[in-house]
Amino acid sequence: MRTDQVIIFDTTLRDGEQALKASLTVKEKLQIAFALERLGVDVMEVGFPVSSRGDFESVQTIAKHIKNSRVCGLSRAIDKDIDVAAEALRVAEAFRIHTFIATSALHVEAKLKKTFDDVVDMAINAVKRARRYTDDVEFSCEDAGRTGVDNICRVVEAAIKAGATTVNIPDTVGYCLPMEYGNIIANVMNRVPNIDKAIVSVHCHNDLGMATANSLTAIQNGARQIECTINGIGERAGNTALEEVVMAIKTRQDLFAIDTRINTKEIHRVSQMVSQLCNMPIQPNKAIVGSNAFAHSSGIHQDGMVKNKNTYEILSPESIGLKKEKLNLTARSGRAAVKNHMEAMGYQESEYDLDKLYTAFLTLADKKGQVFDYDLEALAFIDMQQGDEDRLHLDVITSQMMSHLPASAFVQVELDGKKYSEVSNGGNGPVDAVFNAILKITQIDLVMLNYNLTAKGEGAEALGQVDIVVEHSGRRFHGVGLATDIVEASARALIHAINAIYRSQQVADIKSSKVAN
Ligand code: KIV
Ligand code: ZN
Repeated sequence: MRTDQVIIFDTTLRDGEQALKASLTVKEKLQIAFALERLGVDVMEVGFPVSSRGDFESVQTIAKHIKNSRVCGLSRAIDKDIDVAAEALRVAEAFRIHTFIATSALHVEAKLKKTFDDVVDMAINAVKRARRYTDDVEFSCEDAGRTGVDNICRVVEAAIKAGATTVNIPDTVGYCLPMEYGNIIANVMNRVPNIDKAIVSVHCHNDLGMATANSLTAIQNGARQIECTINGIGERAGNTALEEVVMAIKTRQDLFAIDTRINTKEIHRVSQMVSQLCNMPIQPNKAIVGSNAFAHSSGIHQDGMVKNKNTYEILSPESIGLKKEKLNLTARSGRAAVKNHMEAMGYQESEYDLDKLYTAFLTLADKKGQVFDYDLEALAFIDMQQGDEDRLHLDVITSQMMSHLPASAFVQVELDGKKYSEVSNGGNGPVDAVFNAILKITQIDLVMLNYNLTAKGEGAEALGQVDIVVEHSGRRFHGVGLATDIVEASARALIHAINAIYRSQQVADIKSSKVAN
C-alpha cells in the first residue's frame, strides 16, 4: 500500500491516558478528541474498550461525535476484546480495530507462557475476527524492539495475509537506538513479501529519549504511520511527541519530501489543553511546546534575532499557533467580546458554556480589573473539567492564620441544594483548615496524594491554580480549582474532586440498581 503522506495516529487518549495518576472523565476525553480532530489527526486511538465500563463508554461517546478522523479502539488478540471494541466503535463514521500480541521471547515465555507458534496463530485469528467488523485492522507485535527480526517478519507476513491493513512495530520499552530501529523497519520493508498490502507503522516509547529520532528514522526507511501523543505523554518516559515529529517533518522538508495533514497552528492550543486536563505540566524547555521553546535569553542571540530571525529561529511561534499579542477585557466587556476573544484563540462556542464562562469572567473581572486572554482560556479549561450536575458548591470561605498559632477557617457550602457550614481550628495552615472544614461537612474519607500550585498567567496578576489528586475507595480522583486567591483555589480543587467522587458513586448506584432489577 502506498501513501505519499505520513499518517498521524494519535494515542493520547489510550497510551497517554493509561499513564495518568487519575483517569479523565468522558467529558474531558471528548474535549480532547474534538481538539485532536481540529488538529487534523488521521486516526485517534481513544481507549481499550474491554478494560472497563468507563473506557467502553468513552470510546463509544467519542466514536459518535468525531466525524473527520478515524476512531480506533485497542484490543488484545482475544475474541472478547475484539467483539467489545467493535461494539463500542460501530457508531463511528469510520473506525479501526487495533489488535496486539507480544512477540519478544521474553514476553512470549515469561508473560504469555506460550510458544512463538501460538502467538502467530493468535495474531492470525485476531486479525481475521477483527476483519468481520471492519476492513481497517491494525496489528501490533508488542515489544518488537526486542524481537528477533526473523520473527517480526514472520508474524507481520501472517497478519497481512489474514487481513491486517496496518502493521505496527512498537518499541514498547524504548530500548532501540535510531540506526537499529531504522534497520528493523528496513528489514520489514525488504523481507516481508506482502508488505505492499499494508502500511508500516511505528510506535516508540521514550525511555532512552529516542522516541522522536526512532520514529523519524523509521519514516526514512519506509514506514508511513507514526503513533504518538500530545506532549509525549504516556507510559513511563512517554511516547513519541506528536508535535516533535510533525514539526521536524515540516521543518526538514529537504530531508523528508513527505508531509502530514496536521494543521500545525492548532498545536499550541491542544498541547495546553492536554496538559491542563491531564494534570501533566509541560517542562519549560520541552521542544516545540515548552514555555521557553521560543525564548531567546543570551544577549548575542537577542541581537541576532533583531537583525534576522533566521539566525536563531528554525520555526516560528506562529507556525504552532502561538500568538504574541495579549488581548484584555474588563468588567464592562459584554458576552460578545468574550465570545470573540474565545474565537480568536480558536475555541468554538459549542466547546464551552458561554453563559457559565461569562459569569466566571465577570466575577474575575470584578476582582482583577483586567482579564487577559490566557485568563479566559484558564476559565474555559476549568469549565471543561467541571461536571454538569455537581452536588457540592462552595458558598463562603474565610480563613485566618498567625505565625506560631494554628490556622482556623469557616466554610459554607451547598450540598444537594441545602446550606451547611463548619468551623475548623487547629489546621497546619489556612489551606489545611479549609480542607478540614469541607471534609467535616461532607464526611468523605479520602487521602490526599498530591497537591500542586501553579500560577496561570503572568506576573503578580496571575491566577492561582491548584491541582490535587485524592484517593477514595481505592480509586484516584483529580480536582482542580482556579481563583485569584490560593486558599479559595484549594477549596475549589477539593470540592471538584469530591464532586467527581459523588459522580462515581452515582454510577455505581445506577449499576447496582440495574443488577438488582
Ligand atoms: O507500547 C506498545 O507496545 C503498545 C501496544 C499496545 C501498541 O502500546
Ligand atoms: Zn505503547
